[in-house]
Amino acid sequence: MTTASSSVSSGRVTGKVAFVTGAGRGIGRATAIMLAQHGAKVAVADRDADVAQEVVDTIESMGGAAALAVVDVADEDGVRQVIGEVVDRWNRIDVLVNCAGLAGIQKPIHEVTTAEYDRVMDVNVRGIFHTTKYAIPAMTNGGSVINFSSIYGLVGGASAESPYSVYQASKGAVLGMSRGDAMMYASQGIRVNSICPGFIDTPMVAGFLERTGDAAAARTAAAALHPLGDLGEPDDIAYGVLYLASDESKFVTGTALVIDGGMTAA
Ligand SMILES: NC(=O)c1ccc[n+]([C@@H]2O[C@H](COP(=O)([O-])OP(=O)(O)OC[C@H]3O[C@@H](n4cnc5c(N)ncnc54)[C@H](O)[C@@H]3O)[C@@H](O)[C@H]2O)c1
Repeated sequence: MTTASSSVSSGRVTGKVAFVTGAGRGIGRATAIMLAQHGAKVAVADRDADVAQEVVDTIESMGGAAALAVVDVADEDGVRQVIGEVVDRWNRIDVLVNCAGLAGIQKPIHEVTTAEYDRVMDVNVRGIFHTTKYAIPAMTNGGSVINFSSIYGLVGGASAESPYSVYQASKGAVLGMSRGDAMMYASQGIRVNSICPGFIDTPMVAGFLERTGDAAAARTAAAALHPLGDLGEPDDIAYGVLYLASDESKFVTGTALVIDGGMTAA
């Protein structure tokens, strides 16, 4: 299996400035580290300062450039402030990765409270609105925006495996916003794409499996949904982000990159 190296190389995104949300854990963490390994300066944005600092330290120990950005993406003023600090430090933003997301509540919609609905939407959709709003003016040399949707933005899943329709609604909204922004900003050389992961082995999915009451059985069942036979790893998704962040994807905008072990083709 191919794995990421642990040092900075002359890379595929050398010289680019990347702002990665949800960068403290899971897919966002893997993405921040991989972008740094390939030469990007990376703002590590997460609402959890401790895990974000660990990622900054990891990147710096590899010889990479990282900045700490502690922020809840649902907080517009906080997002404006941390993006301003990154621009003050590195002059512009080239790559925005909107990875922060909440799985939220795992119950049928008739039991969901308005407050629970609002929190999922505030992070998964409005958070992307906030970061995009303040990063776009800083993309003075073109750019790439990569928004995290999910296979559950594309399909409902069988009832037993389906997570929860509020999450699904939020991930469908991400696809729509991404396509609209792709059209809006194409003339400025700013590309906007979505990523739709299958089940990836992260703290979010670990929590999902544990809440079923039998995590081992749930993991086996989740793995079986993927024709390739297992959950994905965070790096499986980070490689896709790296491609969309790099100039290798200069003709790609308004698309959704599905990385799901074949799940939605089954
Ligand atoms: N793991 C999967 O199987 C999977 C599948 C499809 C889509 N996704 C999407 O990929 C993204 C990353 O998922 P993951 O599994 O790595 O999640 P995770 O829960 O393992 O990590 C998410 C990180 O985002 C941070 N975060 C959460 N809310 C935030 C907020 N409001 N502001 C700032 N930071 C915040 C958390 O502190 C955490 O460090 C999410 O958008 C998720 O919906 C994940």
